[in-house]
Amino acid sequence: MFNLFRSTVNIAHGYLKTVVKPGGVAVDATVGNGSDTLFLAGLVGLNGRVYGFDIQPEAIRRTTEAVIENGYSELVKLFEQGHENMGDFINEPVDAVVFNLGYLPGGDHNIVTAPETTLTGVIAGLNLLKPGGVMCIVMYTGHSGGPEEQERLESYLRHLDKKLYYVCKIDFLNRNKAPFLLVVEKASEVSMGGLK
Ligand SMILES: C[S@@+](CC[C@H](N)C(=O)[O-])C[C@H]1O[C@@H](n2cnc3c(N)ncnc32)[C@H](O)[C@@H]1O
Repeated sequence: MFNLFRSTVNIAHGYLKTVVKPGGVAVDATVGNGSDTLFLAGLVGLNGRVYGFDIQPEAIRRTTEAVIENGYSELVKLFEQGHENMGDFINEPVDAVVFNLGYLPGGDHNIVTAPETTLTGVIAGLNLLKPGGVMCIVMYTGHSGGPEEQERLESYLRHLDKKLYYVCKIDFLNRNKAPFLLVVEKASEVSMGGLK
Protein backbone atom coordinates (compact mmCIF):
# COMPACT_ATOMS: atom_id res chain seq x y z
CA MET A 1 0.00 0.00 0.00
CA PHE A 2 1.40 3.43 -1.00
CA ASN A 3 1.05 6.12 1.69
CA LEU A 4 1.36 9.61 0.22
CA PHE A 5 1.57 11.26 3.65
CA ARG A 6 4.23 8.93 5.06
CA SER A 7 6.88 11.65 4.86
CA THR A 8 7.30 15.25 3.75
CA VAL A 9 9.49 14.17 0.83
CA ASN A 10 6.83 11.65 -0.20
CA ILE A 11 4.17 14.35 -0.27
CA ALA A 12 6.46 16.55 -2.40
CA HIS A 13 7.03 13.66 -4.80
CA GLY A 14 3.27 13.14 -5.04
CA TYR A 15 2.80 16.73 -6.25
CA LEU A 16 5.75 16.51 -8.60
CA LYS A 17 4.29 13.41 -10.26
CA THR A 18 1.20 15.40 -11.20
CA VAL A 19 3.16 18.06 -13.12
CA VAL A 20 6.42 16.50 -14.32
CA LYS A 21 5.78 14.34 -17.35
CA PRO A 22 7.98 12.44 -19.83
CA GLY A 23 9.98 14.95 -21.89
CA GLY A 24 9.67 17.60 -19.15
CA VAL A 25 12.32 19.75 -17.50
CA ALA A 26 12.98 19.85 -13.74
CA VAL A 27 15.48 21.35 -11.31
CA ASP A 28 16.90 19.80 -8.16
CA ALA A 29 18.18 22.89 -6.33
CA THR A 30 19.83 20.88 -3.51
CA VAL A 31 21.24 17.66 -4.98
CA GLY A 32 22.73 16.15 -1.78
CA ASN A 33 22.80 12.37 -2.07
CA GLY A 34 20.85 12.54 -5.30
CA SER A 35 17.57 10.89 -4.40
CA ASP A 36 15.43 13.80 -5.65
CA THR A 37 17.59 14.06 -8.78
CA LEU A 38 16.98 10.39 -9.57
CA PHE A 39 13.27 10.72 -8.81
CA LEU A 40 12.97 13.68 -11.22
CA ALA A 41 15.02 11.88 -13.87
CA GLY A 42 12.60 8.95 -13.62
CA LEU A 43 9.67 11.32 -14.23
CA VAL A 44 11.09 13.22 -17.21
CA GLY A 45 12.58 10.09 -18.81
CA LEU A 46 15.16 9.91 -21.55
CA ASN A 47 13.62 12.76 -23.58
CA GLY A 48 13.59 15.17 -20.66
CA ARG A 49 16.17 17.10 -18.67
CA VAL A 50 17.08 17.56 -15.00
CA TYR A 51 19.37 20.33 -13.77
CA GLY A 52 20.99 19.79 -10.36
CA PHE A 53 22.88 22.21 -8.08
CA ASP A 54 24.92 21.71 -4.92
CA ILE A 55 27.85 23.57 -3.39
CA GLN A 56 29.46 20.41 -1.99
CA PRO A 57 31.83 18.55 -4.33
CA GLU A 58 31.02 15.34 -2.44
CA ALA A 59 27.31 15.69 -3.21
CA ILE A 60 28.02 16.23 -6.91
CA ARG A 61 30.45 13.29 -6.97
CA ARG A 62 28.04 10.86 -5.28
CA THR A 63 25.12 11.95 -7.41
CA THR A 64 27.16 11.75 -10.63
CA GLU A 65 27.92 8.11 -9.80
CA ALA A 66 24.24 7.38 -9.06
CA VAL A 67 23.17 9.09 -12.28
CA ILE A 68 25.60 6.97 -14.32
CA GLU A 69 24.55 3.76 -12.54
CA ASN A 70 20.91 4.47 -13.34
CA GLY A 71 21.56 5.29 -17.00
CA TYR A 72 20.55 8.97 -16.74
CA SER A 73 23.84 10.65 -17.80
CA GLU A 74 22.37 12.02 -21.01
CA LEU A 75 19.54 13.87 -19.33
CA VAL A 76 20.94 15.03 -15.96
CA LYS A 77 23.18 18.09 -15.85
CA LEU A 78 24.87 18.64 -12.47
CA PHE A 79 26.55 21.88 -11.40
CA GLU A 80 28.84 22.42 -8.42
CA GLN A 81 27.19 25.78 -7.93
CA GLY A 82 24.84 27.50 -5.53
CA HIS A 83 21.18 27.41 -6.51
CA GLU A 84 21.18 31.21 -6.18
CA ASN A 85 23.02 31.13 -9.55
CA MET A 86 20.67 28.73 -11.33
CA GLY A 87 19.49 31.45 -13.70
CA ASP A 88 23.01 31.60 -15.18
CA PHE A 89 22.91 27.91 -16.15
CA ILE A 90 19.32 27.27 -17.25
CA ASN A 91 18.09 28.83 -20.47
CA GLU A 92 14.70 27.18 -20.78
CA PRO A 93 11.41 27.18 -18.86
CA VAL A 94 11.03 24.38 -16.33
CA ASP A 95 8.08 22.33 -15.08
CA ALA A 96 9.25 21.94 -11.49
CA VAL A 97 11.88 23.04 -8.99
CA VAL A 98 12.68 21.11 -5.79
CA PHE A 99 14.47 22.41 -2.72
CA ASN A 100 15.32 20.11 0.19
CA LEU A 101 16.84 22.52 2.70
CA GLY A 102 19.14 22.12 5.68
CA TYR A 103 22.24 19.92 5.82
CA LEU A 104 23.22 16.79 3.97
CA PRO A 105 22.31 13.68 5.99
CA GLY A 106 25.55 11.74 6.57
CA GLY A 107 27.59 14.81 5.55
CA ASP A 108 29.00 17.92 7.23
CA HIS A 109 26.19 19.36 9.38
CA ASN A 110 27.90 22.77 9.32
CA ILE A 111 27.19 23.15 5.61
CA VAL A 112 23.57 24.21 5.52
CA THR A 113 21.38 26.20 3.20
CA ALA A 114 21.20 29.86 4.24
CA PRO A 115 18.32 32.37 4.28
CA GLU A 116 19.63 34.87 1.69
CA THR A 117 20.95 32.38 -0.87
CA THR A 118 17.88 30.18 -0.47
CA LEU A 119 15.58 33.14 -1.08
CA THR A 120 17.61 34.20 -4.13
CA GLY A 121 17.42 30.62 -5.44
CA VAL A 122 13.67 30.41 -4.83
CA ILE A 123 13.09 33.66 -6.74
CA ALA A 124 15.31 32.44 -9.59
CA GLY A 125 13.37 29.15 -9.66
CA LEU A 126 9.98 30.89 -9.67
CA ASN A 127 11.12 33.03 -12.60
CA LEU A 128 12.10 29.87 -14.53
CA LEU A 129 8.83 28.02 -13.81
CA LYS A 130 6.45 27.53 -16.70
CA PRO A 131 2.88 28.69 -16.12
CA GLY A 132 1.27 25.75 -14.29
CA GLY A 133 4.68 24.65 -12.96
CA VAL A 134 5.31 23.72 -9.33
CA MET A 135 8.01 24.42 -6.75
CA CYS A 136 8.32 22.14 -3.70
CA ILE A 137 10.39 23.26 -0.72
CA VAL A 138 11.07 20.74 2.05
CA MET A 139 11.98 22.80 5.09
CA TYR A 140 13.61 21.86 8.40
CA THR A 141 13.86 24.17 11.38
CA GLY A 142 15.62 21.98 13.98
CA HIS A 143 19.16 23.16 13.15
CA SER A 144 20.85 26.48 13.82
CA GLY A 145 19.71 29.01 11.19
CA GLY A 146 16.64 26.94 10.26
CA PRO A 147 14.04 29.23 11.90
CA GLU A 148 15.62 32.30 10.24
CA GLU A 149 15.50 30.58 6.85
CA GLN A 150 11.84 29.70 7.42
CA GLU A 151 11.00 33.28 8.40
CA ARG A 152 12.86 34.76 5.40
CA LEU A 153 11.15 32.44 2.92
CA GLU A 154 7.67 32.54 4.36
CA SER A 155 7.63 36.31 4.66
CA TYR A 156 8.51 36.53 0.94
CA LEU A 157 6.10 33.81 -0.24
CA ARG A 158 3.23 35.16 1.88
CA HIS A 159 3.26 38.32 -0.22
CA LEU A 160 3.28 36.76 -3.69
CA ASP A 161 0.28 37.89 -5.73
CA LYS A 162 -2.46 35.36 -4.91
CA LYS A 163 -3.86 35.51 -8.44
CA LEU A 164 -0.51 34.55 -9.92
CA TYR A 165 0.94 32.10 -7.36
CA TYR A 166 -0.86 29.54 -5.21
CA VAL A 167 1.22 29.10 -2.06
CA CYS A 168 0.49 26.31 0.45
CA LYS A 169 2.11 24.99 3.58
CA ILE A 170 1.70 21.34 4.60
CA ASP A 171 2.69 20.51 8.15
CA PHE A 172 2.26 17.42 10.34
CA LEU A 173 0.13 18.24 13.38
CA ASN A 174 0.93 15.00 15.20
CA ARG A 175 4.72 14.98 14.74
CA ASN A 176 7.31 16.90 16.71
CA LYS A 177 9.77 19.03 14.69
CA ALA A 178 9.06 17.15 11.46
CA PRO A 179 10.05 18.91 8.25
CA PHE A 180 7.19 20.64 6.49
CA LEU A 181 6.44 21.37 2.86
CA LEU A 182 5.93 24.66 1.05
CA VAL A 183 4.36 24.28 -2.39
CA VAL A 184 4.13 27.11 -4.89
CA GLU A 185 2.13 26.60 -8.05
CA LYS A 186 2.41 29.22 -10.80
CA ALA A 187 -0.99 30.08 -12.25
CA SER A 188 -1.53 28.96 -15.83
CA GLU A 189 -1.89 32.51 -17.14
CA VAL A 190 1.31 34.02 -15.66
CA SER A 191 4.11 35.03 -17.99
CA MET A 192 7.70 33.98 -17.32
CA GLY A 193 10.15 35.91 -15.12
CA GLY A 194 9.32 39.20 -13.45
CA LEU A 195 9.95 38.51 -9.75
CA LYS A 196 12.67 40.30 -7.80
C1 LIG B 1 19.01 18.24 2.84
S1 LIG B 1 20.35 18.18 1.73
C2 LIG B 1 19.58 17.72 0.20
C3 LIG B 1 19.15 16.28 0.13
C4 LIG B 1 18.93 15.80 -1.28
N1 LIG B 1 17.81 16.42 -1.94
C5 LIG B 1 18.83 14.29 -1.37
O1 LIG B 1 17.88 13.77 -1.99
O2 LIG B 1 19.72 13.61 -0.85
C6 LIG B 1 20.73 19.88 1.45
C7 LIG B 1 21.84 20.11 0.43
O3 LIG B 1 21.86 21.50 0.10
C8 LIG B 1 23.18 21.82 -0.26
N2 LIG B 1 23.34 23.28 -0.29
C9 LIG B 1 23.62 24.15 0.71
N3 LIG B 1 23.66 25.41 0.24
C10 LIG B 1 23.41 25.34 -1.10
C11 LIG B 1 23.32 26.30 -2.15
N4 LIG B 1 23.48 27.61 -1.93
N5 LIG B 1 23.06 25.86 -3.40
C12 LIG B 1 22.89 24.53 -3.67
N6 LIG B 1 22.96 23.57 -2.70
C13 LIG B 1 23.21 23.98 -1.44
C14 LIG B 1 24.01 21.12 0.79
O4 LIG B 1 25.34 20.97 0.35
C15 LIG B 1 23.25 19.78 0.92
O5 LIG B 1 23.80 18.80 0.09
